[in-house]
Amino acid sequence: MPKSLDTSGGLRWHLRALWRRGQWRDTTRQIADWLATTQPASRHLLLIGGSAGWMMSSLWLQRFSRIDLIDLDPYAHRLFRWNHGRALRESGTELHYADFDALGSLDSLLKRHPKASIFFDNVLGQHLFRIRQIERAEADLARIAKQLKGRDWGSVHDLFSGPTNPLKLPVSPITQFDALREPNGLVADGLSGTPLHHRLLAQVGGEPDWVDHLTSEVFPVGTRSRLIAWPFLPDYAHWLQAGWVNESKRG
Ligand SMILES: C[S@@+](CC[C@H](N)C(=O)[O-])C[C@H]1O[C@@H](n2cnc3c(N)ncnc32)[C@H](O)[C@@H]1O
Repeated sequence: MPKSLDTSGGLRWHLRALWRRGQWRDTTRQIADWLATTQPASRHLLLIGGSAGWMMSSLWLQRFSRIDLIDLDPYAHRLFRWNHGRALRESGTELHYADFDALGSLDSLLKRHPKASIFFDNVLGQHLFRIRQIERAEADLARIAKQLKGRDWGSVHDLFSGPTNPLKLPVSPITQFDALREPNGLVADGLSGTPLHHRLLAQVGGEPDWVDHLTSEVFPVGTRSRLIAWPFLPDYAHWLQAGWVNESKRG
């Protein structure tokens, strides 16, 4: 398993996120800038896989009157309060927490909260590495947009990740691209040629053998998204995809 993929939650993730906070600052800011452009339809948010919200914007969270953080990680909610509690008290946002498998029970979760907006916070790209079955992960991820049809939802998730050579080209999160989910796949503005991951790899000095997190077709056709580089380690980078689907407003 690639070295970053066993750390999607738990104590190891928290220690790493705390330690690398400075190096991840530009990526976190780019996520916050993108979040600021979203227009969630509800003031109730289901935040799935939010962990401690190390890369989450307090300012964005303050828009909601109620947040339900759902994360398998038993450390998540205390650390989430540590990172965002003060801001949420200031905005009068209620925070609830539950630790069940939100992807496995997505249908019942959506039924229980028919009006809430949903945000998958860097969790969909980890699905393959949690369940370790490619075909099942592909099927689960392909089903998500159908399960969420008519709902207001967004996601930031790993698209590709892999080793980089810092001597070849230092990983820099300055680069970001807007992208569009077209019927035959994901197309990024300003990055012509295929496959997309080869183009993205070249932007961050990537070495061959990048991992595909199977998420490039999670959003429905027509969804615009932003691709953001994340220098996870000095020699290992991720490309994140951030998108929002406002179907509840269209319908
Ligand atoms: C990479 S971390 C998210 C980091 C977070 N965005 C942050 O800013 O700190 C992914 C999180 O998803 C959680 N997770 C993974 N699969 C899940 C599932 N099926 N249901 C609920 N939580 C899940 C993990 O426990 C982990 O905390």
